[in-house]
Amino acid sequence: MAWENDLGDQLFHENMNNVAPTGIVQYYNLVIKSAQGAEVTDVEGKQYIDLLGSASAMNVGHNHPHVVAAMKQQIDELVSYDAGYFTNPTSMKLAERLTKLAPGDQKYKVAFGTSGSDANDGIIKFARAATGRSYIISFEGGYHGTTFGAISAGACDVNMVRKIGPLVPNIVHVPFPDLYRHYPNETVHEISMRYLADFMRPFNTYLPADEVACVLIEPIQGDAGIIKPPDEYIQAIHTFCQANGILFAVDEINQGLGRSGKMWSIEHFGIEPDLIATGKSIAAGMPLSAVIGKADIMDALGTSAHVFTTAGNPVCAAASSAVLDIIADEKLPEKSVTDGEYAKEQFLKLQARFDFIGDVRMFGLNGGIEIVKDKISKTPDNNAAAQIIFRAFQKGLILVKLAGNVLRFQPPLVITRAQLDQVFTILEEVFNDFQQDKIKLPDELKNMVW
Ligand SMILES: Cc1ncc(COP(=O)(O)O)c(C=O)c1O
Repeated sequence: MAWENDLGDQLFHENMNNVAPTGIVQYYNLVIKSAQGAEVTDVEGKQYIDLLGSASAMNVGHNHPHVVAAMKQQIDELVSYDAGYFTNPTSMKLAERLTKLAPGDQKYKVAFGTSGSDANDGIIKFARAATGRSYIISFEGGYHGTTFGAISAGACDVNMVRKIGPLVPNIVHVPFPDLYRHYPNETVHEISMRYLADFMRPFNTYLPADEVACVLIEPIQGDAGIIKPPDEYIQAIHTFCQANGILFAVDEINQGLGRSGKMWSIEHFGIEPDLIATGKSIAAGMPLSAVIGKADIMDALGTSAHVFTTAGNPVCAAASSAVLDIIADEKLPEKSVTDGEYAKEQFLKLQARFDFIGDVRMFGLNGGIEIVKDKISKTPDNNAAAQIIFRAFQKGLILVKLAGNVLRFQPPLVITRAQLDQVFTILEEVFNDFQQDKIKLPDELKNMVW
């Protein structure tokens, strides 16, 4: 067995005995003991730099002292009370802060939940209630979560929906622009127009626009491989929505809160969304999510249509208020821009040397690095990506892949420059090892599914 961490391997397999397979995406057998900032320590004391950031849930870094102190103080006062019945000052204060965080001058309101998935279900409910229309438009490649509404809106992996249908009806998926794989000599404008024609096709053939409640979009797709569509395309869709009374809803669960170099990724396009779904980093990985929406839309649902016993839990709310302080005090969106530029330069240097690095997509400290057979064919190489992330793990990086062949680069935004330099020293070694065919993947990892 090629594992270097026998205890982690043993515990991982013990866990597989008890946890349903659907709850485990297996990359390699890491079991985590503790974490601080951008560093994670496993059960054997080995340290890793975390390039996954707990799936973009740790923008402020693991166990940030301000988050930990805020939670401890709140635990001493009140651990939980169902805010649907009787609220508390901590949850109230957070609700007010979140309404002010939305881009736009209008009055916004908040509906709390506990996971990104339920926030997207909320978007479907609020949009249908506010418009009296049933159809939702979402995008191929999108990941919105696994509750029934969210999983129906997503379209990134057929295994997610196998065996569980029927799904929530009246959700139409349209293609998402791909600026990497396109026709020869196509300009960005031509690509935008081609995908806009795809977007319009349902409306021109079978779908009356006045029956559509909302467009639900990740302004930068995360699980599809960190893909940012052209400005022109997003602007055109937004204009079409406004002209036809269709709400514009953004899923910022992966890309929000400074990750892309802006507070919200939709700000790259200068658009004021009607509805925002947020989660993950909003409370440093504590179970909290929110739909933030324009007040008239949020007023459309009756009591109990979107309420959960632990939604807006005070300990999670305390963590979240601390997160918002840190994002402002440590200027994390700005840091994401600067360090993202630095990381991009390093990846581009590596791309120039290695033919298997097909595309480098970086938007802030937020990247998708495409591993391909070669730069000409651009054929995705899932097996190569699996070998690379396994060797990176052996050398002390937590690195996983997206869409089969895309390296996922989403470290905590507090990662230091010294840690970033260490990351690129290791990655260079890993890429050299791969090029020289030195990496042997353990048998059980040969069919990584994600
Ligand atoms: C864009 C996006 N939306 C929604 C979700 C679902 O969030 P959760 O897993 O907290 O339900 C995710 C999680 O990966 C996500 O990346």
